[in-house]
Amino acid sequence: MKFFLDTANLEQIKEAASLGVIDGVTTNPSLVAQEGDVDFHTRIQEICELVVGPVSAEVISLEAEEMITEARELAELAPNVAVKIPMTEEGLKAVKVLEEDGIKTNVTLVFSANQALLAAKAGATFISPFVGRLDDRAHEGMQLIEEINTILTNYDLDSEIITASIRSPRHVKEAALIGADIATIPFEVIEKMSQHPLTDIGIERFLNDWEEAQE
Ligand code: E4P
Repeated sequence: MKFFLDTANLEQIKEAASLGVIDGVTTNPSLVAQEGDVDFHTRIQEICELVVGPVSAEVISLEAEEMITEARELAELAPNVAVKIPMTEEGLKAVKVLEEDGIKTNVTLVFSANQALLAAKAGATFISPFVGRLDDRAHEGMQLIEEINTILTNYDLDSEIITASIRSPRHVKEAALIGADIATIPFEVIEKMSQHPLTDIGIERFLNDWEEAQE
């Protein structure tokens, strides 16, 4: 399973990359806005220099032609840019053209299996179902991951599933059990995944026993 870091923060990316567990990065307009007064294109280039794998950068336009123009500009920034396109009919038109151009796309804001099927058929490189936002509305986000995984497997479709809108280590574990290709994870969740109280207790006990044996 690949892990992407869901952030536009350079320090978080450097720290997570140093753990050796990061295969890419996803950003969105909200995450870039959280970084304050940064130039969007410059920040995407900075992120692309820190990670080898795909770095998702999202278009703002809603019309296909404008999305395509924006996407081509973003793809010029670095070879590892994947352009995030919202899951709309205009977005699907853009994905088809960009796929023909050889530009990687990440169809975002996916909330149903049918949306994912359309995105895969249009040629999306990645599909991002948002599990946390579904859970927030009392739906089962992980059920959607299962459905999309089954459909893509049934028809041997090439798109990779990015489990997105992850809120907890439990989401990561469940996505891994289903066999989702990728999870895009907030930095805080990576930190929580590495922690366990029994690990801390175990370290303390080993060190105490060691010190006592030295006396
Ligand atoms: C990633 O591609 C998404 O933009 C992100 O996971 C959304 O997460 P949120 O629902 O916590 O904003």
